[in-house]
Amino acid sequence: MKNKIALVTGGSRGLGKEMALRLAEKGSDMVITYVSKKEAAEEVVKEIESKGRKAAVLKFDANNIGAIEDFMDDFKEILSSKWNTDRFDFLINNAGNGANIPFEKATEEEFDLFVNIHYKSVYFLTQKLLPLMNDNGRIINISSGTTKYVIPGYSLYSPMKGAVEVLTRYLAKEVGPRGITVNVVAPGPVETDFNNGGNRDIPERKKFLASRAALGRVGLPEDIGGVIAFICSDDARWITGQRIEVSGGMNL
Ligand SMILES: NC(=O)c1ccc[n+]([C@@H]2O[C@H](COP(=O)([O-])OP(=O)(O)OC[C@H]3O[C@@H](n4cnc5c(N)ncnc54)[C@H](OP(=O)(O)O)[C@@H]3O)[C@@H](O)[C@H]2O)c1
Repeated sequence: MKNKIALVTGGSRGLGKEMALRLAEKGSDMVITYVSKKEAAEEVVKEIESKGRKAAVLKFDANNIGAIEDFMDDFKEILSSKWNTDRFDFLINNAGNGANIPFEKATEEEFDLFVNIHYKSVYFLTQKLLPLMNDNGRIINISSGTTKYVIPGYSLYSPMKGAVEVLTRYLAKEVGPRGITVNVVAPGPVETDFNNGGNRDIPERKKFLASRAALGRVGLPEDIGGVIAFICSDDARWITGQRIEVSGGMNL
């Protein structure tokens, strides 16, 4: 993974942070994004630099589709000033939020928020970034185990992840001739700040979720990051168009 550059959206904390650290350990340089927690993102950059890799941080708001062009300008500028290049190798579409909203209470505004963050931004950011991606690169979209099993209150969230899973297969076919692989990783419940930290901080919820996993516990961010690093490695070059669930065997 030497001389490769990865872009991890939502790399300031949670799963994205762990993905960025594992990729850096395997030798990749890194651009990570945040939307509100700039200081946390800068700490991640320092940690990556302490591993001997170069890293940079940019702001990216997945709910502001109109701002993707501005983000592209910032990304090109940082590639040029920091790496003296206009190309990168790995795109990890990870940024995202969660909320428990019962179907009958969801508003159109909330619906649009989830469409933007979990699907529309993934679609158009990837489209705009593809010309900058080296052949034989990697695109990894982050979905969720909840496209397979159902959690009441996730009717805004999970169908967007489902859309990303279908998009992954279409994209894999369209960019395959360039040697770029496109896969979707679907984590089960993980102990992060996601959805107000419920998978980490609500003991009854944690106990219930752990009881549904074959491996008997809720996931940790480090359970996911290494899988992303593997998919970006040369060993994974023949895997494309796949949904890889990383959930400790939820609801088998
Ligand atoms: N944790 C789980 O149980 C779980 C399970 C399945 C799938 N996932 C998926 O995994 C991904 C990461 O989740 P996580 O658990 O790491 O969540 P997290 O700890 O809450 O971190 C979310 C990350 O996304 C960024 N972000 C949030 N809203 C954004 C927006 N509007 N635009 C751009 N960036 C935004 C945050 O930036 P700031 O720090 O600047 O706010 C942060 O870096 C999400 O796509 C989520 O759907 C999570």
